Amino acid sequence: MRELPTGSVDLVFGSPPYENRRTYGIGFNLKGQAWVDWAVERYLECLRVCNGLVGWVVEGKQVQFRYTATPILLMADLHRAGVHLRKPPAYKRQGISGSGGPDWLRNDYEFVVCATNGGRLPWSNNTAMGHPPKCPPGGNPSHRKPNGERVNRESDGRVYQHGKHHERRPNGKRGTLRYKPPALSNPGNVIDCGAAGGGNMGHKLCHENEAPFSEKIAEFFIESFCPPGGLVLDPFAGSGTTLAVAQRLGRRYIGFDIRESQIELCRRRLAV
Ligand SMILES: C[S@@+](CC[C@H](N)C(=O)[O-])C[C@H]1O[C@@H](n2cnc3c(N)ncnc32)[C@H](O)[C@@H]1O
Repeated sequence: MRELPTGSVDLVFGSPPYENRRTYGIGFNLKGQAWVDWAVERYLECLRVCNGLVGWVVEGKQVQFRYTATPILLMADLHRAGVHLRKPPAYKRQGISGSGGPDWLRNDYEFVVCATNGGRLPWSNNTAMGHPPKCPPGGNPSHRKPNGERVNRESDGRVYQHGKHHERRPNGKRGTLRYKPPALSNPGNVIDCGAAGGGNMGHKLCHENEAPFSEKIAEFFIESFCPPGGLVLDPFAGSGTTLAVAQRLGRRYIGFDIRESQIELCRRRLAV
């Protein structure tokens, strides 16, 4: 990866080993702060090669009703190192159905730790995975200013003060505010990928890796954050989920994995 030029990749998307949950046949057994230190170094290298968004799907462990919080510790250390974090989306997927054991604090989502080198992304499409807006009844959508006052947003993007109609509206008239929903709205940052496992992951070969993610999460990030024809990097390619989706969506791709077996697996998955 050190051979890749600075800023040469449009999107980095992948998932590292989660502490010592699995050894991956390479004796991987870092946990707690040792895992965070290992991850920070690699995350910074991802940021170096990237001109857009870096997204890592990451989770910690729950041991004896105690959460290790390593995704949060990773974000804290990146933040303290001056990295421009973005709000982490949630990768939501349904595990094996059941009671969840004796604890109701289940593991229904994983963090996608996201960061950039600062400023606005050079390219993004926030409605690529959008849907028609689902507006509940109850009048114009609004939010509150720091002083608690309620404000509404008009179809021209301007904010009008609730209850005051002296502003001229986009149609040139004065009068009651009316909300015009866009055709597609931003899908939000809880990415529901449905059931995990079985035939729901997108490709049967993914199960030859110990911890694959769903093609749906890779699709979401590639469609939203890598321009058509752009370059996607997965530094922990595993079964090649990110790479296969990039190939299908007309993006170029680079993948790394420390194990020869996974490189071979990627080759099989990517063979068209
Ligand atoms: C969670 S899996 C990735 C699964 C992948 N997202 C998929 O859908 O198949 C993590 C991968 O990282 C690889 N790995 C572990 N340490 C690595 C390192 N230092 N450099 C590159 N790959 C590494 C492992 O071999 C494993 O295949």
